[in-house]
Amino acid sequence: MEHTRWYKDLVFYQIWPRSFYDGDGDGMGDLWGVYEKLDYLKSLGMDGIWFSPLYPSPGADCGYDISNYMDIAPEYGGMEAFQKVLQGAHDRGMKVIMDLVVNHTSDEHPWFQKSRRREDPYTDYYIWRPGKKNGKLPNNWDSCFEGKAWQYDEVRGEYYMHIFAVKQPDLNMDNPLVRQEVKKILRFWLDLGVDGFREDVITYISKKERLPNDYLMPASKGIRFYNHGPHIHEYLSEFYRDVLADYDCMTLAEAPLVSPKKALAYIAEKPGGQIDMMIQFQSMCADCLFTDYIHMPFSLRRLKHAWSTWQKKLDGKGWNMLYLENHDHPRIISRYGSERFRTESGKMLAAAYLFQKGTPFIYQGQEIGMTNWRPQSPDMYEDIQTRWQYENTALHLSEGKRLRRMWLASRDSARTPVQWTAGENAGFTTGKPWFYVNPNYREVNVEAEEKDPDSLLNFYKKAIALRKSLEVVRSGSYREYNALSSRRYTYSRISENEKLLVLCSFVDEPIPLKVPRGFDLSKARLVLQNNREPQEKTLQPYETRVYYWGNGVK
Ligand code: NOJ
Repeated sequence: MEHTRWYKDLVFYQIWPRSFYDGDGDGMGDLWGVYEKLDYLKSLGMDGIWFSPLYPSPGADCGYDISNYMDIAPEYGGMEAFQKVLQGAHDRGMKVIMDLVVNHTSDEHPWFQKSRRREDPYTDYYIWRPGKKNGKLPNNWDSCFEGKAWQYDEVRGEYYMHIFAVKQPDLNMDNPLVRQEVKKILRFWLDLGVDGFREDVITYISKKERLPNDYLMPASKGIRFYNHGPHIHEYLSEFYRDVLADYDCMTLAEAPLVSPKKALAYIAEKPGGQIDMMIQFQSMCADCLFTDYIHMPFSLRRLKHAWSTWQKKLDGKGWNMLYLENHDHPRIISRYGSERFRTESGKMLAAAYLFQKGTPFIYQGQEIGMTNWRPQSPDMYEDIQTRWQYENTALHLSEGKRLRRMWLASRDSARTPVQWTAGENAGFTTGKPWFYVNPNYREVNVEAEEKDPDSLLNFYKKAIALRKSLEVVRSGSYREYNALSSRRYTYSRISENEKLLVLCSFVDEPIPLKVPRGFDLSKARLVLQNNREPQEKTLQPYETRVYYWGNGVK
């Protein structure tokens, strides 16, 4: 079937279900809650939803540890609620994509239970190895969440690999039976009517033969042997050829450590492709090194370099996925903007990415400017990665300093319930919320922002509507100006009949307005701004302006 690449004209919303909205009063977000909020998403201009995992799961990694791929967890409302949401979304013209998590399963998945007992055909579904004679682990690779990447299993008498948590054993994708299972899962959801997949760490699924020790990397040992591994393109092509090619669907691959050049090996738009878009991490690393846990001062130049490189290198060859937040990173205003200038910087950040070329994703709560949650004590954290980091790293620092590091880095900073109202539990639930609510919900909530014409929420609505009305945003060329500035981000989008110029200040003091040569502001229309009284020569703290030349805006 022809792949029409419909995703190019869409704006997606990511739902991390536990914290979105509770429809049945048990304190946890669910699909009944999503169903109630479909009109809200539509009013925001969303054309699609990416659901973080909704499947049955013991919850060791908040659903990324799956124990049944072909069902919906009862706490989210089961299949009945899912079908209702899917239908409700489709009725409103919205697409739905699922999270496909097949690098690993839960250790409670029946496949693993049978594999550890060597029950065929499951014996080789996972990566099992005996220990070394000297009592050492099978190799020296690190896991991303809990120490080394190997766990001894008493039942089988061998070690299994886990690149993530101990409760997330890695599947052995070299086994054709495992790949058959993946294809069954893809077909199951596509036949049910879903429109595609976000593929969790999919670039990790092919491990280097013989699993060699890594003597090069000081941390994340092994990553160069399992990320973009030897058979990755073969396996993804197989999934495409045997299943995805039969549906007009989309795929979005999460890809740590990917350069645009490498990305194009997956997403180049040619027949028989493997993947449509990639979640790159470079633009998430403007204030950290490789991961949020190694924090550094924010560098606008790093951010701009990442954005512009991806814009330029993919142009005409592949399609960008654009994002500022997701469930794995702290909130963007607390990182690249300013909590003091919350609304202004939130608007500026929105304009900075929404007019780039690609398909934008918005993470729940981003549109109202939710900021990082800052618990008073480390045991309030829920996230497995945060807990391990707290207990095992930077132990020489005082408890206060270590806690502050978590405030900056933890995934839980962005996993608190969405703030719907100024009422009890931020209107998220009528029960006892499963997790803490950020205390700023009295000021920062959907209800208040819907009423305020100058709110961040209403800015998002305007910006999204504007984006969709302008052909130049879909197809125009991208160019950046003042690339060396550490205070401003300026870019244009240009097509034959239209021009767009986006000016963004990333600092908390006034700076001179600089207009690149060739743009005559007297002939332009100011189509979006976050300052009611823009000045001729100055940009105020975190000011943004979008100028337009052409006939596309009424
Ligand atoms: C990436 C997901 O986004 C993250 O939340 C999860 O913990 C890991 N992959 C493991 O599945």
